[in-house]
Amino acid sequence: MLVHAIPANAAYEFASDVRSGLTRGRQKELPSKYLYDDVGSALFEVISHLDEYGLTRADERLLRRHGPEIVDRLEGSIAVAELGSGSGKKTRWVLEALCRRQPTFYYPVEISHSALVMCERELRDIDSIAIVGFEREYLDGLLEVAAHRKRGQHLLVLFLGSTIGNFDRPAGLRFLSGIRRILEPGDWLLLGTDLEKSSSQLLRAYDDELGVTAAFNLNLLARINRELEADFVLSQFAHVARINPEARSVEMHLLSRRMQVVNIPAAELVVEFAEGETIWTESSHKYSAEEIPSMARASGFFCEAQWIDAQWPFAENLLRAA
Ligand SMILES: C[S@@+](CC[C@H](N)C(=O)[O-])C[C@H]1O[C@@H](n2cnc3c(N)ncnc32)[C@H](O)[C@@H]1O
Repeated sequence: MLVHAIPANAAYEFASDVRSGLTRGRQKELPSKYLYDDVGSALFEVISHLDEYGLTRADERLLRRHGPEIVDRLEGSIAVAELGSGSGKKTRWVLEALCRRQPTFYYPVEISHSALVMCERELRDIDSIAIVGFEREYLDGLLEVAAHRKRGQHLLVLFLGSTIGNFDRPAGLRFLSGIRRILEPGDWLLLGTDLEKSSSQLLRAYDDELGVTAAFNLNLLARINRELEADFVLSQFAHVARINPEARSVEMHLLSRRMQVVNIPAAELVVEFAEGETIWTESSHKYSAEEIPSMARASGFFCEAQWIDAQWPFAENLLRAA
């Protein structure tokens, strides 16, 4: 497997994003992509096994049950790109079905080096598969994959796990349009979307009893300590999950338990936190099944099929580039 490493200015970008996020006026904020270093990717894997977090299992049930049907709908020669593959476990069901029909190139695109390594280990035993990972941001990686496309070949892009929900609705549409611009007519996008459910179920999913999601969130401060020489005292911050009814999302925050000052030398920053003030670290937007076809149309796709899990409201959507 060939892994193209993330550019050398990644450390500078991290410092600069931390600086701009923590000096924001009304609400301090850190981009959710930084949750996924080696520790964060391992913790996310654990989250996907928790009883409270039914999302990953719903996604997997759908792919397992409908993988062969999804593959049957794709005509001709297909190469597969997956944006934010994580461990790639669920992807096996689609790849095995496709590899039974044709030798297949699979290109996971990941910001997390350890997730890419996990993914390659997880899937390399599939017959007739060639895995080429790209340690890249989503669209930068997809551009490189598209450059590897063979003449007459179609791309199937996988964006699973409702990762689209990390974007707010306008940004999600811009992101889908960005994917569409890289694709050619007739290419495919398989999009996993978590559907709306009760607030209590959502709060449990994003604030589990064991505290794994809390550790996942707090690891972002630990990462800033490790990589930017900061002095966050982790016990002085608490993980909080909140429903945002207007945005139809669950938000994760890190709440400062007291007034405190934190030094982040590598970002040339000293930050003050008031007691009760939060850093917003992630949003997970939830969808109605009906809004996906219109999101698809608005971004240059057509929704060809949709499958919904019976146990945990979650939709797998097969979109075709118009
Ligand atoms: C919510 S996890 C989902 C993982 C997997 N697709 C699943 O469904 O279980 C999001 C994944 O996307 C990766 N990721 C986050 N932001 C990214 C970005 N901007 N570019 C590339 N990968 C990113 C993370 O490292 C993480 O593995």
